Amino acid sequence: MAQKVILDVDTGGDDAVAILLAGHHPALELVAVTVTHGNAPLSVTLDNTLRVIAAGQLGHVPVYSGALTALVNPPPPMNSDQRAILPLPATDLQPQTERAVDFLIRYYMGPLGPDTVYAPIGPLTNLALALRIEPRLATRIPRLVTMGGAYLEGNTTPSAEFNILADPEAAHIVYSAGIPITMIGLEVTAQAYVSLDNVAKIGQIGSPWAIVAASLMERDVRWFINHRHVERGQIYDACAIATVIDPALTRTKPMHVGIELRGELTRGRTVADISGHHALPVNVDVGVAIDRMRFLEIIRAGLS
Ligand code: BDR
Ligand code: CA
Repeated sequence: MAQKVILDVDTGGDDAVAILLAGHHPALELVAVTVTHGNAPLSVTLDNTLRVIAAGQLGHVPVYSGALTALVNPPPPMNSDQRAILPLPATDLQPQTERAVDFLIRYYMGPLGPDTVYAPIGPLTNLALALRIEPRLATRIPRLVTMGGAYLEGNTTPSAEFNILADPEAAHIVYSAGIPITMIGLEVTAQAYVSLDNVAKIGQIGSPWAIVAASLMERDVRWFINHRHVERGQIYDACAIATVIDPALTRTKPMHVGIELRGELTRGRTVADISGHHALPVNVDVGVAIDRMRFLEIIRAGLS
């Protein structure tokens, strides 16, 4: 039976690929998509999400609009690339009238909640708000598989990854709630690198959603080539969805992870007890390795 999953997105290019993968891979049933601020203001991430849903022929999947901004501080500045509307046709599709937070509470407190993985691949504001309204959600969500954080590096500051830095207080609420968490951080996404040649092969699959995914992946990979001066890119959020599809894809290590809220240089860091020597309670299965060839195979299979 297909694994039910709800995605929480701040749609840019890699979220878009994650949506298309979750919506089309036979091992998953994409129940709904909730949307947050992040890569761009909510108005843009919501519009991008609806365009992806339409272009990917996933109009049966309901989309719920969520948090406009972070809980406490304004998120880090977005660069112009991140702010861009995805180059996909405009759509008449509309979000549901129910808000994302109300939907999450209603759904997870209902009968299907414990069967449904939640996969947040943007800032964690929506789930943090929902947990503050309904703390019992922590016992209803069977697992979070989330793209965010890192145990060593940072991509927005030397210490912090973007999704966590965009709302550290929300991340603190979510990471300390007691929900089983699989954290797909930057050390994992960097191993699952994607070349232009890999992207071309995905485009050759020829399905409408593979063509859309390949065009967005090419845009992301070219961003890495032009801005990071490397020959390959990361499709960050797709790594989390591929891990929902095949949990054995990613090797994890149980660790205590706390969220740094105050540090001048370290705000937004996922502080991981890597050695395990500090007798802190384990709260996260931290991704440490991913099988890159299998990852590419999952993407190809999902978009076929
Ligand atoms: C994360 O930040 C966003 O830019 C991406 O969509 C991804 O979720 C990577 O740090
Ligand atoms: Ca994202």
